[in-house]
Amino acid sequence: MGCTTTQSQEGVSMEAGHFHLTALLATVLTALYWPNPGLSQDTVVHLMPAPQHIAINEGRLRLDRAFRVHLSGHSDPRLLAAVARVLHVMRNKTGIPLALLPSPDPEQSVFEIQCEGPGEKIQSVRSDESYTLEVNNRGGRLAAPSPIGILRGLETFLQLIDMDSESFYVPAVKIEDRPRFPWRGLLIDASRHWQPVEVIHRNLDAMAAMKMNVFHWHLSDDQGFRVESRLFPKLHQIGSEGDYYTQDEIRETVAYARNRGIRIVPEFDVPGHTTAWLAAYPELASAPGPYAIERSWGVLDPCMDPTNKKVYAFLDAFIGEMAELFPDEYFHVGGDEVNGKHWNANPRIRSFKARQKLKDNRDLQAYFNRRLARILEKYGKKMIGWDEVLHPNLPKNVTVQSWRGQASLADSVREGHPGILSYGYYLDQMQPAEFHYAIDPLGKEAANLRDADKNQILGGEACMWGEFINSDNIESRIWPRAAAIAERLWSSAETRDVSDMYRRLDYVNHELTARGLMHRCHYLEALQRMAGELDLDPLTKLADLLQPTGLSVRARTRKYSSLVPLNRMVDAVMPESEAARHLADLIDIALANPLRSKDAFQKIRALLTDWRDHRVQVKPFIEQSFILREVDPLSDAVFELCMAGLEALDYIEAQRKPTEAWQTKATSLLERCEKPQAEMLVAIVPPIQELVHAANAIP
Ligand code: ACM
Repeated sequence: MGCTTTQSQEGVSMEAGHFHLTALLATVLTALYWPNPGLSQDTVVHLMPAPQHIAINEGRLRLDRAFRVHLSGHSDPRLLAAVARVLHVMRNKTGIPLALLPSPDPEQSVFEIQCEGPGEKIQSVRSDESYTLEVNNRGGRLAAPSPIGILRGLETFLQLIDMDSESFYVPAVKIEDRPRFPWRGLLIDASRHWQPVEVIHRNLDAMAAMKMNVFHWHLSDDQGFRVESRLFPKLHQIGSEGDYYTQDEIRETVAYARNRGIRIVPEFDVPGHTTAWLAAYPELASAPGPYAIERSWGVLDPCMDPTNKKVYAFLDAFIGEMAELFPDEYFHVGGDEVNGKHWNANPRIRSFKARQKLKDNRDLQAYFNRRLARILEKYGKKMIGWDEVLHPNLPKNVTVQSWRGQASLADSVREGHPGILSYGYYLDQMQPAEFHYAIDPLGKEAANLRDADKNQILGGEACMWGEFINSDNIESRIWPRAAAIAERLWSSAETRDVSDMYRRLDYVNHELTARGLMHRCHYLEALQRMAGELDLDPLTKLADLLQPTGLSVRARTRKYSSLVPLNRMVDAVMPESEAARHLADLIDIALANPLRSKDAFQKIRALLTDWRDHRVQVKPFIEQSFILREVDPLSDAVFELCMAGLEALDYIEAQRKPTEAWQTKATSLLERCEKPQAEMLVAIVPPIQELVHAANAIP
């Protein structure tokens, strides 16, 4: 996937602060949202994704060494493994030396797990993921019709663990839960930058914690072919430069995912995005070779020849081999961004089109896709492709994954295809979690669909494309933002309170770290690498206020390739600045009631003063490190923005109208600072803008 098409922010307000509610309003909404608020005013749960129904009751189940689990009903090896994992995480979270095995004796059990039905041999999109969880002072009970529901309920149980002045506990609750959509995926592109198997496993752990159930593994592209093929060994030997998954690693990862209730859908992108295949087997190409692994990003010309019988024989054998390795019923064939240049340039392909009455390259690709669908059918697979595969001749059972717009999802289901949404869920665009959170597969574009068509919308997938990530920073680019997408796909459509989502997202950060995710550690390590011997604090303080730009901006700013190191500040800073969000929240509180928010004003002043004065401390870093030199203007911008913010505060607190000259100067400063510098954004621009607007609005 070239991913060069910009995912626009159309239709969703990005203005920071816009969604931030006052603390009071947030409390009211939270109380409305969590039923039975009166019973347990001091019990706050952090569940993500939010369950469909929860009642928080009086009482707490105290956790101690006596905590024992008992399993009843249908047995499944996944359940034993899951209980051991959960108890292990509980041990890590609480330090209590819990027995890791379930108890054979129901009398001893504090937590009863009842699996009411068997699991599927191969987990499918139809699997029942519902569960009920009840906890009271004395114990808990988790019941589900299938092992997958038990896995989901166990994750909820883990997230409920909290502590008070007395001990660790789980609050008394009654939860009835099930997903809104059956397809809740995460795509990882392991082609453009290599992602070792342990990175994949950690992300599977995080997905399981967020109840995501499809790992879409993008395994081939122009820049690398990443799976061992025994039938066509040159694919991985020539196409990967040694960075590929062995078949044993694939099998191990499929089992790892299955244990966590996650299906793995492999993607082998054809007929475009195939330079790495063609480097190994140039006879499959539409234009004469030789080919070499591609280093640059974008939509490229090399492409398989859909008129060549050998291509189908090759794909038939290859898909047969991969169909055994990947048991899931779905098989992704890509199909995106075929520019057709090599088809147009080849007289044999042109005359084939004329003979077959294929009027354009879309028709030719549809011809290719029909043949591909037959091959997949032979191996018992359902075909799925990106929205470019949509064509009147496409067999209706092919699932379409929309990345170019929500309208294309509506078109697909209207034409009878099952559909999945990825438009709006591109993590590489570095949008804030609230941007993704606002995008609903059944949003306004789907409003006019018939119910039968709506039911064809299976869900969505977050996409982590690989141009600007490596194995160091990938986790920080996915998490915690993907959790907001996980919630959109699991929880009810009415679960929409952005402040509450962010409250819980902060908790998700800790939850994922406790489970071994590296998304937080990478940041400090990367900063330390840039800072050398110096104490890290001042640099961190600046970096906390910066955010990376997304793929579209970066690809325009300089010539990138897979050989360009991702070792700059833009590759370290977090996609969403928590410090800026905290400032925005305070500003919302202060501006909602300027006369009665002395405390908020004081806090804002303290933050801005601290950040302003910090320029002096960060200078030595910038002077001593060639890699940090580009950060200098950003440090200056933070200084000036804080000055402007402090002046705006003076005006607001005194209710004194700023001079015209000040207003003009502040506006031009904000315009200047809004632009990316060194491929980064200063995250406090929008909140400072709020302050300046508020000052300007004083009569
Ligand atoms: C894509 O981003 N080309 C699917």
